[in-house]
Amino acid sequence: MEYETPLFFQVMTYAADADRDVIDVVSGNPDWEPPQALRDGLREYADLEPEAFQYAPSVGLTALREEIAARRGVDVEQVIVTNGTGEANYLAMARALERNRGEEILLTDPVYPYYPGKTTLLGGRQRFVATDDDGQLDPAAVREAASEETAAIVVNSPNNPTGAVYPERTVRELVAIAEEYDALLVSDEVYDHFDLEGRFASALEVESDTRIVTNGFSKSMAITGVRVGYAIFPHDLVENARSRHMLVNVSTNRPGQYAVLNALRETEPAYYERNRDLLRERVETFTDALDAAGAEYTTPQGAFYVMARFEDFPGTLENTYRLIDEAGVAGMPGEAFGESRREWFRFALVTPQIEEAADRLATYFG
Ligand SMILES: Cc1ncc(COP(=O)(O)O)c(C=O)c1O
Repeated sequence: MEYETPLFFQVMTYAADADRDVIDVVSGNPDWEPPQALRDGLREYADLEPEAFQYAPSVGLTALREEIAARRGVDVEQVIVTNGTGEANYLAMARALERNRGEEILLTDPVYPYYPGKTTLLGGRQRFVATDDDGQLDPAAVREAASEETAAIVVNSPNNPTGAVYPERTVRELVAIAEEYDALLVSDEVYDHFDLEGRFASALEVESDTRIVTNGFSKSMAITGVRVGYAIFPHDLVENARSRHMLVNVSTNRPGQYAVLNALRETEPAYYERNRDLLRERVETFTDALDAAGAEYTTPQGAFYVMARFEDFPGTLENTYRLIDEAGVAGMPGEAFGESRREWFRFALVTPQIEEAADRLATYFG
């Protein structure tokens, strides 16, 4: 599998160059409004004194770290504000590998492709554990794959691409397995606000000094371009991660941190609930169309993706291009996410044209 140049870019380029109008359900860019307080924070920022335009503290603005720590029930010293969840994952995986307690990173299949990409980048080895048909991860399978070579177990719930949300017992078991093998559990929780059925359990609920939780505001505040995320490290592991963050980035985008802090303080729960409602509606519209198309699919419990398989039309890159040219819908080929879903496509429900995309698929396959 080719992880180094995410297939995502190839598909986006093909769709952009197509000779017809194409609905983009490729990428995970929310199409809804960020919180008003986020916009207000950015506007306010433009008029601040010159010192506000200089480096932020490398670990992040103190007030933002305090706000995150209070919300997550951790010590502020454990929090590093990062360039999105992407950097938080990189810091966590790097921290696991530099402990020299194994070179293997356990990942799920299907997988969010940046994890294996980062593993290669960091000189580690991937080992995959298949999820079940619903995208659920069996802790017994993880235990079987774990060994002295395991540096980290990297999981994501709510999950991209399957939409699975792991129950608390799975999260608990994953932490226990990491502890048994002196590995780190890295729990990427970037879709925690898109827990559509109220099942989500954070790894923070399990007390442990071997788990790192990563998160960010790209999805919850619909600001993938602002680049603010965070990692929560155990006390013993945070120091090296801070240094790596500083050496790679100096610090994270300061206006973004300021605006996120404003939005965290000012945004009512109703904002997040509205976005979940919107997604629930889209899931229904889209899966109805998949039924009409005779497709097999998984209904997401969280995040904003649907995986589907069409009869005699496997989710190869070639068929992804055909779907763009012949149906005017751009999805992602299943092979981008590992071996187990090679026959499938992934569709991101983040366009106001979801109904039209659904109709086009129903017509094309129906
Ligand atoms: C599972 C997962 N983790 C991390 C990211 C990146 O998030 P951020 O924009 O906060 O870096 C994404 C983006 O799609 C994702 O799906």
